Amino acid sequence: MEQTIERKKRIFSGIQPSGTLTIGNYIGALRHFPELQDAYDCIYCIVDEHAITVRQNAADLRRRCLELAAIYLASGLDPEKCIIYCQSHVSAHAELAWILNCFTYMGELQRMTQFKDKSAKHADNINAGLFTYPVLMAADILLYQADAVPVGADQKQHLEITRDIAQRFNGVYGDVFTVPEPLITKVGGRVMSLQDPTRKMSKSDPEECFISLLDEPDTVRRKIKRAVTDSDGEIRFDPENKPGVSNLLSIMATLSGQSVEDICAEMAGKGYGDLKTRTADVVIASLEPLQSEYKRLIADKQFLLDTLLSGAEKANYIATKTLRKVQKKVGFAPRTLK
Ligand code: TYM
Repeated sequence: MEQTIERKKRIFSGIQPSGTLTIGNYIGALRHFPELQDAYDCIYCIVDEHAITVRQNAADLRRRCLELAAIYLASGLDPEKCIIYCQSHVSAHAELAWILNCFTYMGELQRMTQFKDKSAKHADNINAGLFTYPVLMAADILLYQADAVPVGADQKQHLEITRDIAQRFNGVYGDVFTVPEPLITKVGGRVMSLQDPTRKMSKSDPEECFISLLDEPDTVRRKIKRAVTDSDGEIRFDPENKPGVSNLLSIMATLSGQSVEDICAEMAGKGYGDLKTRTADVVIASLEPLQSEYKRLIADKQFLLDTLLSGAEKANYIATKTLRKVQKKVGFAPRTLK
């Protein structure tokens, strides 16, 4: 009897260890990671090579890689079910990125909004790595033949260029790469800044703009209390005209699992003070288990490192397979004469 062993669909995603994660990172990406680990073959990377596209303090970056590993685990990822590792531990990422650089056009990279934003923010350090950042991201995803990539809405353009690069390469050499789909949720795909709700919440903005995953309850309350709203006083979901209120509503909806409509109905006639108190309650309650698990895990650095190293070994096996295939296709010198 012929037996076909179907491979589970593969998920790949990554987060930069470049600062404290915000509830934007959590709602847009991280909270989906554990949800996917049973049904899919999941690979979650700590992208330290991407992080150095802006200047980092070496000791801080080293520490943050382990902290992010602890956050991954505290969010519910199980290293027995999925692969968790550091990008710099698998050299195939940088090697494939070089090859893909030769299949990416300057014009495509010039159109990337993240490049434009980051070069405006770091005008004294517009380096080539910042420019080719999306190519390394394409290499991350394509090395593992990922079918889908859970990310926030700000990464959509990077997923599109990844798909373009994969299709271009496949067009020349045959079906080498799986062309990945982005997994972006409608509500929560873009959590906005508390101080300027027309811009996305970002860990590189001033403290009052974001809630960190490790913020104490008092800090969460203070930041939400000071969140910018509007002057019309009605609790209604309308991102275009009421970005501040709509942002609080979608934070509450995604974290509580309630629909925005139900929350609005429950809060009819109430004021923004109530909305903020309730949002803070929901945020604090959903961060509490993650925070206490994080505190436990971060105390055992050896365990975190062992988890990352064994993850890197498994990742390396998969990545090298793709890399060798690509190297052969482009005509690099053979390693054997067979
Ligand atoms: P990074 O580290 O900036 O953010 C990690 C994830 O969090 C999402 N995110 C948000 N989602 C909703 N609202 C927000 N305000 C918000 N801010 C951040 C991001 O979309 C992302 O999913 N380039 C990536 C890292 C990366 C990667 C990859 C991702 C490198 N290689 C391969 C997927 C696959 C980045 O800078 O994410």
